[in-house]
Amino acid sequence: MLPEQDTRRKEILRDFFGDPARLDQEGEWLENVLQFENLMMKYRATIRELTTKLEVLNDEFSVSAKRNPIETIQSRVKRPYSIAQKLRNKGLPVRVDMIRLHLNDVAGVRVICPFLDDIYTVAGLLLAQDDIRLVTRKDYIRHPKPNGYRSLHLIVEIPVFFSQGKEWMRAEVQIRTVAMDFWASLEHQIRYKQDLPDEQDLPAELLECANCIADVDQRMYLLRRRLQGSVPDAPDGWTEAADAPPPAPGRWSPPGKHALPNGE
Ligand code: GTP
Ligand code: MG
Repeated sequence: MLPEQDTRRKEILRDFFGDPARLDQEGEWLENVLQFENLMMKYRATIRELTTKLEVLNDEFSVSAKRNPIETIQSRVKRPYSIAQKLRNKGLPVRVDMIRLHLNDVAGVRVICPFLDDIYTVAGLLLAQDDIRLVTRKDYIRHPKPNGYRSLHLIVEIPVFFSQGKEWMRAEVQIRTVAMDFWASLEHQIRYKQDLPDEQDLPAELLECANCIADVDQRMYLLRRRLQGSVPDAPDGWTEAADAPPPAPGRWSPPGKHALPNGE
């Protein structure tokens, strides 16, 4: 990290927690840190609850359909610096009490599926559970971002039980295929590479790769359907692509500019 970036980072965190070096603020600093710690513990618990729900669904499917609709589940709690920076970017006071009110993605769960239709199956079954509330849904598979990014994004709320009672906690669930994940992680790495030369055709190249990958996803899905027969032997209520048929890969041309997400 460059020295000026480090200074900036420290400034933002000081806004958030206060300055521990100043004696008159010591109590306030400690209070903020404890409040923050407590909230992060709650987001970690939220991730555990969501992950368990997904693992149970995957397990059930593997018994009855002899196939896993989920390949891997990843998760993360947003880091303090990214939280502070996101509040600041939204023009909000950088305070612990603002986090719950205004940020949806402090708890993040990423579900990687083998096939295109698995995404909708998993989303449908998760949202059908009666203790889950859907806050927003963004289908970047039907409507890919101009740069080619594809995934299904759900903001959900689930009840989590603590010693003082039940709390509805928010989380972002990103569901994508292995192929979409491959593209997204490489695109992320390329985008954050500091010393890239000014490559004019980089967005177009990335978009083309995204479209190739979408074609492959579609073909692999059709291949599986052909080999397997159209209806899998699935648990009750588990209809293939219950939510939607796999969409034809969306294409964008020419490449548009995309406002890139900040502070993961
Ligand atoms: P942000 O979290 O601030 O981006 O809020 P938003 O409401 O714009 O969320 P959106 O649903 O568009 O994206 C949320 C998350 O999806 C990001 O934090 C990334 O993890 C992922 N994402 C979105 N767009 C891209 C993209 O173009 N490339 C990659 N690699 N990931 C993306
Ligand atoms: Mg985000």
